[in-house]
Amino acid sequence: MTWLLFVLGLVAAPHPAGPPPAAQSTAGRELDFETYRRTIEPIFLKERAPGEGAGRCVNCHARIATRMRLQPLSEGASTWTEAQSRQNFEVVKRVVVAGDPASSPLAVHPLAPAVGGDQQHTGGKFWRAQDNPEYQAVVAWIKAAAPSAAPATAKATLDFEFFRQRVQPIFLAKRPGHARCISCHDNGQPRLVALEGGETMWNEQQSRQNFAAWQRVVVPGDPEASRLLMHPLAKEVGGDHFHAGGKHWKSKSDPEWQTLAAWVRGERLSGSSR
Ligand code: HEC
Ligand code: HEC
Repeated sequence: MTWLLFVLGLVAAPHPAGPPPAAQSTAGRELDFETYRRTIEPIFLKERAPGEGAGRCVNCHARIATRMRLQPLSEGASTWTEAQSRQNFEVVKRVVVAGDPASSPLAVHPLAPAVGGDQQHTGGKFWRAQDNPEYQAVVAWIKAAAPSAAPATAKATLDFEFFRQRVQPIFLAKRPGHARCISCHDNGQPRLVALEGGETMWNEQQSRQNFAAWQRVVVPGDPEASRLLMHPLAKEVGGDHFHAGGKHWKSKSDPEWQTLAAWVRGERLSGSSR
């Protein structure tokens, strides 16, 4: 309820509007901060009409863990300070591939699939056509930067055995003051297979189903961008704003949190045959 009021409060807050000016393509090698600040950040702050995506970008992206975790606006502020914009710039770079809009989540995630966007964005589809000025601003900014010569960093892969033996027990464990994860998530997203007839652990096939479903709330290699870790973590220590299932971990040093982080970073159960 308080969360809802908070959201409504933000929805009513003033915001800077105005179309982003076209970016000058000077073929600068790096993603340009000034252009970012002038043409991209207003997109995150813009109020949305009903049916235009699922609302203002910042309303979700300052409070839900993704790679694009924006700074919350200061009390009463309608835009970010330069220091906050610099922090935003660093996280937004993580959802951009310099020189390559088609590979950049920032360009394809809010874009409708029919016109080149990807399938699904929890926040909805904002751009119905490629001539949308916001989409154009994003593309211009990304294209003005040269592709990075640095080799792509090896992506962590998620280990099934680690998930099965170390992560799954966390979904079944009882924590004081909280219902177990399974007691809600056998019936909601991300879904855990319901355990029937006195069963105390999932079999191999059920574990594979769980593994597939829960990968969607994980960014391999990056625990802090993973909702699996941030959604049930206390807000005071960096967790997401709200989880209907409660805040199960008070700190990142909680052993369960550490186990989940190890899985997300790609730790494996080596030599395990089961
Ligand atoms: C209702 C909440 C909500 C709104 C509004 C929203 N998003 Fe999102 N967005 C999410 C969630 C949740 C995810 C992670 C799951 C997914 O990819 O769908 C996400 C993912 C993303 C990602 C990929 C992040 C990553 O870690 O790879 C980008 C980029 C993005 N959103 C951009 C935007 C932009 C730009 C806007 C506004 C035009 C916007 N979003 C509005 C909830 C929202
Ligand atoms: C009392 C019921 C309940 C319990 C217990 C519960 N959850 Fe949730 N969870 C929900 C509901 C409802 C949502 C969707 C609304 C929201 O995001 O808060 C949700 C959302 C989530 C999400 C975000 C899903 C998405 O697509 O963004 C994650 C991750 C999550 N829960 C993990 C957990 C974990 C891990 C546990 C156990 C440590 C747990 N939950 C315990 C009810 C519960």
